[in-house]
Amino acid sequence: MFRENFPISMPRFTRTGFNVLVTFGLAVINSGCGEAPQAKFKYRPTTEDLIPEANKAVVKTLTEDFGTPEKLVAWERFPVDYGGVKGTVAANDGPAGAFSVTLDGDAGKIAKGASLLWVTGSQAGGKSAEATVKSFNAVTKTLQLASASTAPVAGDRFIVAFGEDMQLGRVVYMKNCMHCHGVTGDGDGPTGKFLNPRPRDYRNGKFKFTSTQSQEKATRDDLHRIVQYGIPGTYMPSFLLLGKRETTAVVEYVRWLAIRGEFEKRFVEELTNDYSESVIVDSIKKAQASYEEKKRNKEEAEKPLSESKAKKEAAAAFKKYVDDKELDGAIEETANLLAAAWTQSETPEVSVVPTSQRVEDTPESRERGRLLYMSNTTKCYTCHGPTGRGDGAATEDFWDKPGTSVKFEKRGLHDEWGNPLKPRNLTLGQYRGGRRPLDLFRRIRAGIKGTPMPAFGETVLKDPQVWDVVNYVMSLPYQQKQPTAVKHPAEVVAKNEEKPAN
Ligand code: HEC
Ligand code: HEC
Repeated sequence: MFRENFPISMPRFTRTGFNVLVTFGLAVINSGCGEAPQAKFKYRPTTEDLIPEANKAVVKTLTEDFGTPEKLVAWERFPVDYGGVKGTVAANDGPAGAFSVTLDGDAGKIAKGASLLWVTGSQAGGKSAEATVKSFNAVTKTLQLASASTAPVAGDRFIVAFGEDMQLGRVVYMKNCMHCHGVTGDGDGPTGKFLNPRPRDYRNGKFKFTSTQSQEKATRDDLHRIVQYGIPGTYMPSFLLLGKRETTAVVEYVRWLAIRGEFEKRFVEELTNDYSESVIVDSIKKAQASYEEKKRNKEEAEKPLSESKAKKEAAAAFKKYVDDKELDGAIEETANLLAAAWTQSETPEVSVVPTSQRVEDTPESRERGRLLYMSNTTKCYTCHGPTGRGDGAATEDFWDKPGTSVKFEKRGLHDEWGNPLKPRNLTLGQYRGGRRPLDLFRRIRAGIKGTPMPAFGETVLKDPQVWDVVNYVMSLPYQQKQPTAVKHPAEVVAKNEEKPAN
């Protein structure tokens, strides 16, 4: 397996980089809560539930390929801008460690003292060599190294000041986002617990308010917009005051956390059925019950394995899984899938772009929109209510947890993360995903990812019809006061639990 990853680790910090880390550490200790948060990545409960052998393998993979919050590892497979100037050694043609090179980007960051990493064919598979830049001649494109244990040769790829942007993103994140979104990006930061809606758990790789089709990831621009303007009506603040470079860097860091989180999720899903403790214990319990039942009926029955025997067998099977390179295969497949998905989201083909201009906002268009809203093709009213107050019948039902027949304990809708969720009150005119007509078009066309707000595809609504619905929805805040529907007691309780924002 060929995995190119360069650790962005302490030894490669320049003096200022090192200072950033120290200051940042102090900043966290002084951050007021009295309790210094541990800068450690948490693992999912499903990871913790694996038999020790499988758990160790997952932790090892995550640590090797993504690192720790203090010592990040950049896995080049993923479309993440870690920062740095990349290039190739053209010829090893000068005196003492001088090389002519070709660069992929501009040479701005190549300065004396900058760290340089290179990979060669022979060093592929994770190892890279380090050196320090002694000088760089931008005219002749000649690079001279101050120190290096081995010499690069023509064709070797290298990168200068690698991971700079990632480090910056991490610092910005730890200062501004971590206390809500958590070190791991699981939405479980120290203040996150008290918020409604909860801060996004990035680890499903899903973002709600995007410009892309319903099955696609968010674009960089989508995340950039969220960070700049925040999400009105929620605790997600606006970070307009962050500089452009900081915003770009933190967006990249969030994408990386999302990739790391979804990698863990999907990778562990591959292992859960065969190698998780609770599955083993459950199946023994079932086998034991059926054994006892058969014995009672005086039927022939085979005694089930003891728990320790079953776990030993699972451990042996896992060893074979590793020996047969199936574990490596699962890593590879998961990485490929995520790399492809995050690359695809940036392509214009997956962007939701209306093919027709906004239909003129006339009483007729609004009326067509209202009829669609109240129709059984869209069923908007079942969630948002006949008057748009977010009090449709669906909010009174008990719903199944996704993929199960077990009901949620609370009435009403829930998001993919298991949190209770209300359909938006459309009479308030507050739109979390942006208030341009185009934003609303996208919300209706592609839904709100990870929530029950569905995507209405072209077979259900043609573009002009979506625009009619947009015109109707946008008129709701300006309509005459409508009679309030009688509230179900459970809904009143739910309302009281919802903390008002802003
Ligand atoms: C005070 C708490 C808080 C802080 C601080 C905070 N967020 Fe959020 N963030 C939230 C909440 C709450 C949501 C979920 C809102 C929702 O579901 O509508 C959210 C959602 C998000 C989303 C998801 C957008 C989507 O379309 O799904 C992103 C991305 C995000 N935040 C990034 C950041 C970044 C980057 C920072 C730091 C620069 C940050 N947040 C700081 C509370 C916070
Ligand atoms: C199954 C329930 C359901 C149906 C059906 C539904 N919605 Fe929603 N809708 C929701 C939920 C839940 C949210 C809030 C999601 C969130 O922000 O977490 C929402 C949010 C919205 C928003 C807010 C967007 C924003 O940026 O804040 C709009 C607008 C909207 N829906 C319009 C519609 C329209 C129009 C229809 C019919 C074409 C519709 N919805 C059908 C559940 C539904």
